[in-house]
Amino acid sequence: MLRSRSSRMILKLKMLVVLLCVAGIGMYYPFTVPDQRLCACAKCLSEDKELLLLRMNHSYRPFLTPDFVLSQDAFNWWKRLQNEKRTYKTYKIITNNIFKMFPRNPDIIQPKSDRCITCAVVGNSANLRGSHYGPLIDSHEIVIRINRGVTRGFEKDVGNKTTHRVMYPESAMDLDNNTHLVLVPFKMQDIEWLIKAFTTGFKGRSYAPIKSKINAKKNLIMVLNPGFMKYVHEVWLQHNGSYPSTGFMTLILSLHICDEVDVFGYGADSDGNWSHYWEILEDKTLRTGVHPGNYEYAIIQQLAQHQKIQFHTGLIKPKRPNAARWRGG
Ligand SMILES: *[C@@H]1O[C@H](CO)[C@@H](O)[C@H](O)[C@H]1NC(C)=O
Ligand SMILES: *[C@@H]1O[C@H](CO)[C@@H](O)[C@H](O)[C@H]1NC(C)=O
Ligand SMILES: *[C@@H]1O[C@H](CO)[C@@H](O)[C@H](O)[C@H]1NC(C)=O
Ligand SMILES: *[C@@H]1O[C@H](CO)[C@@H](O)[C@H](O)[C@H]1NC(C)=O
Ligand SMILES: *[C@@H]1O[C@H](CO)[C@@H](O)[C@H](O)[C@H]1NC(C)=O
Repeated sequence: MLRSRSSRMILKLKMLVVLLCVAGIGMYYPFTVPDQRLCACAKCLSEDKELLLLRMNHSYRPFLTPDFVLSQDAFNWWKRLQNEKRTYKTYKIITNNIFKMFPRNPDIIQPKSDRCITCAVVGNSANLRGSHYGPLIDSHEIVIRINRGVTRGFEKDVGNKTTHRVMYPESAMDLDNNTHLVLVPFKMQDIEWLIKAFTTGFKGRSYAPIKSKINAKKNLIMVLNPGFMKYVHEVWLQHNGSYPSTGFMTLILSLHICDEVDVFGYGADSDGNWSHYWEILEDKTLRTGVHPGNYEYAIIQQLAQHQKIQFHTGLIKPKRPNAARWRGG
């Protein structure tokens, strides 16, 4: 959107120059064409044409806003994720309610030609153990963590800064007062939960226990757009799997809101085991379930090979990429 706005502006300026020349006024070419750069990094994701060939599409809005109208088609896709029974009309009522309480516009940093928005996306893989990535992760302006990825006690490897935490009700945790809560809604109840968790407390049930109340800053709430989730599934994953994992959606989200992306904590550990960095999972046979883990991992590797992201895989690279699955939702 920004790109097209700025290229439209440049076009208008060029037309103006042509008109002035034709009119014989512009003998000394009175304008300099504005700097085309959209950010101050060495490379800016928002102006990367090759990324468009790799499926990026800037026309999808990452976050819900009051004026966004979800297409019926996208609603029907979203409805199937966790067997939503209620109608589009109910969806509209529920989503309208969130903006009575939470910001109408997501608190994101607008790209600027004199600024470089660097992001660290931190997954929960055990390959972070012993990595000493902490200071590198914390050096980013934006640090995005996922679900219950803890920092206390693991600062050396994962850092201690969290500007954004992406989660859903079943994976929620309390946040400190400068962390954005990015809700990934998989069903209408998830959006209702957000409202209840900040007011009377949530009493409903789900496939896992849900926190009734949450501590977080109301003005730092952002809700991922179901239309964006569908875009990740259909465009980035080419319909593979039932729907994308939270980790993968977070990574694609970062390509849309950051100028530069470093990725940590995705994939298996050096033995191909699946664990979180903070716990040994008992169930070694755990799989990514409805999520197309292998396909997601292949896309991440492709982005890294094309130098769109920096992919930090821990001390030892996973031996078998096809054993690599992101775990956690
Ligand atoms: C981006 O998405 C929009 C909306 O679905 C679509 O109309 C457009 O063709 C897409 N652009 C590319 C380059 O695929
Ligand atoms: C995070 O770690 C840095 C040093 O590594 C320290 O200066 C800072 O106080 C820590 N912040 C928090 C919130 O723990
Ligand atoms: C935010 O948290 C910090 C550290 O936990 C605390 O010192 C500060 O008072 C809090 N600010 C607000 C506005 O709650
Ligand atoms: C998975 O993606 C590939 C494209 O890389 C596509 O050919 C295939 O049809 C997709 N699988 C499914 C089940 O849609
Ligand atoms: C992977 O799991 C096996 C079996 O539980 C264990 O012996 C091995 O140490 C694990 N590898 C790592 C790197 O934790």
